[in-house]
Amino acid sequence: MSTPAMQLYYATRDGHARRIATRIAERLAARAASVTPRDLATAQPSPAELAQAPLVAAVLAVRYGKHLPEAIAFVDTFRRLHRPPPLALASVNLTARKPGKDTAEGSVYLRKLIARHGLKPAIATAFAGKLDYPRYSFFDKHIIQFIMLLTGGPTDPATVVEYTDWAKVDAFADAIADKLRSIG
Ligand SMILES: Cc1cc2nc3c(=O)[nH]c(=O)nc-3n(C[C@H](O)[C@H](O)[C@H](O)COP(=O)(O)O)c2cc1C
Repeated sequence: MSTPAMQLYYATRDGHARRIATRIAERLAARAASVTPRDLATAQPSPAELAQAPLVAAVLAVRYGKHLPEAIAFVDTFRRLHRPPPLALASVNLTARKPGKDTAEGSVYLRKLIARHGLKPAIATAFAGKLDYPRYSFFDKHIIQFIMLLTGGPTDPATVVEYTDWAKVDAFADAIADKLRSIG
């Protein structure tokens, strides 16, 4: 019988959390851990699937102050497991572009998610996401511009900036590989 593989999930609206999950999968493949990122909006894992995995990783985008609904549904299933596998959790949001707001303690979104659902992640971090004004609807553009005005970010509606620190994403993948090795 083959050993169950680790699982990697993502929740996205504009595709950036998927890009981050893909980068994590590529990095893990280079370290001999093969995994296919899966979209939580397409299919939610069953409790059995989660319970069997040696490790579960999730990359979850924030929109309007919260992680996406499919991310919450996933976390809700995960937290009900009797013997949950180690969890590697990453939040993707624009606030994490600020120093100190990109850790489990410093990210208000991650802190709330962990506390509200009683999670005990083995690894948790927040990645700065992508600002892409031309892509946003009229309403979203104005709200994000207002948030950026308040937080000292760019307000020019032509701005497209990727704030993600890819070395930090790679380090997250490496921490997952190390964890897998330690439990394998
Ligand atoms: C409509 C909208 C609402 C957002 N709300 C927040 C927010 O409340 N806090 C934050 O830090 N980032 C917020 N962001 C930034 C996103 O988290 C960021 O762009 C991220 O890269 C999106 O990931 P995705 O492409 O996987 O959907 C918002 C973005 C959009 C378009």
